[in-house]
Amino acid sequence: MTHPLTSSLMQRGTDFLGCETAIMCGAMSWVSERGLVSAISNAGGFGVIACGAMTPELLDTEIAETKKLTDKPFGVNLITMHPDLMQLIEICGKHGVGHVVLAGGLPPKGSIETIKAGGAKVICFAPAMALAKKFIRSDVDAIVIEGMEAGGHIGPVSTSVLAQEILPELSGDIPIFVAGGIARGEAIASYLEMGAAGVQLGTRFVCAHESIAHPDFKKAFIRGNARDATTSVQVDPRLPVIPVRALKNKGTEEFTAKQIEVAKLLDAGEIEMGEAQLQIEHFWAGALRRAVIDGDVENGSVMAGQSVGMVKTEEPVADIIASLMDQAEAALER
Ligand SMILES: Cc1cc2nc3c(=O)[nH]c(=O)nc-3n(C[C@H](O)[C@H](O)[C@H](O)COP(=O)(O)O)c2cc1C
Repeated sequence: MTHPLTSSLMQRGTDFLGCETAIMCGAMSWVSERGLVSAISNAGGFGVIACGAMTPELLDTEIAETKKLTDKPFGVNLITMHPDLMQLIEICGKHGVGHVVLAGGLPPKGSIETIKAGGAKVICFAPAMALAKKFIRSDVDAIVIEGMEAGGHIGPVSTSVLAQEILPELSGDIPIFVAGGIARGEAIASYLEMGAAGVQLGTRFVCAHESIAHPDFKKAFIRGNARDATTSVQVDPRLPVIPVRALKNKGTEEFTAKQIEVAKLLDAGEIEMGEAQLQIEHFWAGALRRAVIDGDVENGSVMAGQSVGMVKTEEPVADIIASLMDQAEAALER
């Protein structure tokens, strides 16, 4: 099937990314490595390496290995609070990575300028209108608006509301990619019609054949329903919890119990505030790796978006992209 209507609406996004379809596979820590990233880009989408907590040396290797598997463009996602952010940016520059995605909060001073000076385009996450405008003023090249339906770390607002607020007002100024809760082409078509340059999906690609996620991680996705992908609960305002959407399991229950236990110790004066907050922060350390790589889906963090209910089987990346494009085209024809 050809996709003239979808491709035409995606033109701005594909020109910006340099690929055939403006479907980005959002970086997913531990999942978005050379295998999945190259498969996405080879299938005409846009793969993004998740740097996560990698050292500059590891990122250097990962980019080099990805380049051996694809000659198509791909991006690198860097977390803004990484202690070696500027070194990671340098590594991207050395490899001529065309697009750097900055995630996890406001980019530190000088980071956007350094990426651009190295010749790459900068993409930032804007979970609110004010932030989107700020990024445009900072000369960012494109933004991703990601709603709270998404898997992983999330903001408070849904994709449908962000899209209505931000696309009509800002899509003329900057290419905007919509993320969060997208698993079918009909949704892609509707966001393109609202002015999006393209979309970013994560959850839908976790069970791709080419994804290295452990078979038990994939099984949890195939079994999971939308309602199982819940956000982490904060029990006590003194002990802040960053909202993360993941499949509920033994680990998420124990996290709630842990917060209650630590809050009680605080009340009893048996523990200092700093130590209490550290215990909460450290609860999930290494938990995503435990789930994705080791397959411990009971105690690990099974980050997943609400669209997990639409992930029904393991299939090749090319088939996923083809069905998304077919569905989008059929919707636009209608
Ligand atoms: C398992 C998992 C890990 C993720 N890790 C990251 C990450 O390291 N950095 C990031 O910017 N986004 C991360 N995300 C978010 C994705 O890049 C993407 O924006 C999101 O999955 C899109 O929403 P969807 O899950 O509804 O498709 C992660 C998502 C999942 C499901």
